[in-house]
Amino acid sequence: MLVTLEGLDGSGKTTVWEALQDTYPDAVFTREPTETWYGEAVRRSLTDDDADPVAELFLYTADHAAHLAQTVRPALAEGRLVISDRYSDSRYAYQGATLEGVVPRPMEYVRGIHQPFTRAPDLTLYLDVDAETAAARSDRGNKFERVEHLRQVRDNYERLVDGEPERFHRVDATRSPEAVIDEVEQVLQRRL
Ligand code: TYD
Repeated sequence: MLVTLEGLDGSGKTTVWEALQDTYPDAVFTREPTETWYGEAVRRSLTDDDADPVAELFLYTADHAAHLAQTVRPALAEGRLVISDRYSDSRYAYQGATLEGVVPRPMEYVRGIHQPFTRAPDLTLYLDVDAETAAARSDRGNKFERVEHLRQVRDNYERLVDGEPERFHRVDATRSPEAVIDEVEQVLQRRL
């Protein structure tokens, strides 16, 4: 089973993902961007304010393809539980926003290039926070963490959740980390 954690920067995904490592010691914990050289290329692009958004989409997508081939598919083939901090929905939501005005119907475009090769998550925990809270919580302030941009990203996440309500579970992430972790653990217990 493939479980993904999604949400804006500052939604607390990574805190939840770390907490779950104690609850599910046998699961494979992974993330996007990955720790490979593909992921490093993505991180370089993140710090470049002038990066071309189409070039950036393909860097992220290359990282995803390698992640699937090297980590996600082999673990699922062994019957392991895989829990990923960000996954394909991050591209649909974030690059769906950066590509606005660059390509027509950006989110559909990004989904279209994934569809032939990706493996959809079985369950996606969407940690929902408003853009203002997210921006205030994330301290690093990379170019994707500005309020206006985060609003657009959040609208895209909303469209994704509306389109596949059975795959997504929305968690109110404006609450304390303990409350969020509790709810996530209950949902996982029910679904596993
Ligand atoms: P993040 O998971 O927040 O990394 P970190 O471990 O450094 O907190 O991801 C970094 C940024 O990359 C974040 O602002 C969201 C952005 N991002 C995309 O724009 N598209 C993607 O496909 C992914 C995976 C991340």
